[in-house]
Amino acid sequence: MIKIEAIVREEKLEDIKEALNKVEVNGITVSQVMGCGKQKGYKELVRGTEIDIIMLPKIKFEIIVSSEEWEQKTIKAIQEAAYTGNPGDGKIFSYDLRTVTRVRTKEVGTAAIN
Ligand SMILES: Nc1ncnc2c1ncn2[C@@H]1O[C@H](COP(=O)(O)OP(=O)(O)OP(=O)(O)O)[C@@H](O)[C@H]1O
Ligand SMILES: [Mg+2]
Repeated sequence: MIKIEAIVREEKLEDIKEALNKVEVNGITVSQVMGCGKQKGYKELVRGTEIDIIMLPKIKFEIIVSSEEWEQKTIKAIQEAAYTGNPGDGKIFSYDLRTVTRVRTKEVGTAAIN
């Protein structure tokens, strides 16, 4: 199992939800976060003054999938839906995941996500 985490522009929330729905990704967690990337939030704000680090509001998706095939499909859907071509479009991370337990059924592993 694999965990995908994507930190993207707030205004892309609906587009990304729609893209994930199209590839039949079901379980999704979304949260509002603050962050900065390599521009330290600077160029995105287009401010003339020297400021060390500015945290910008972003949204974070967390999605657990059962295989590398689903991982690739999910990352592609997010990348395409999140893209504007400008700095600040976001980043997508993925990790190996140890366990998932469905509380209602006690199913563990891929049975708990499918
Ligand atoms: N190395 C990192 N570690 C943790 N979070 C990060 C990292 N890089 C980016 N993020 C998160 O992703 C958000 C979007 O990053 P951003 O798109 O600005 O990345 P970038 O590397 O600066 O790429 P770009 O040049 O396209 O802006 C940040 O606000 C931050 O929340
Ligand atoms: Mg950036």
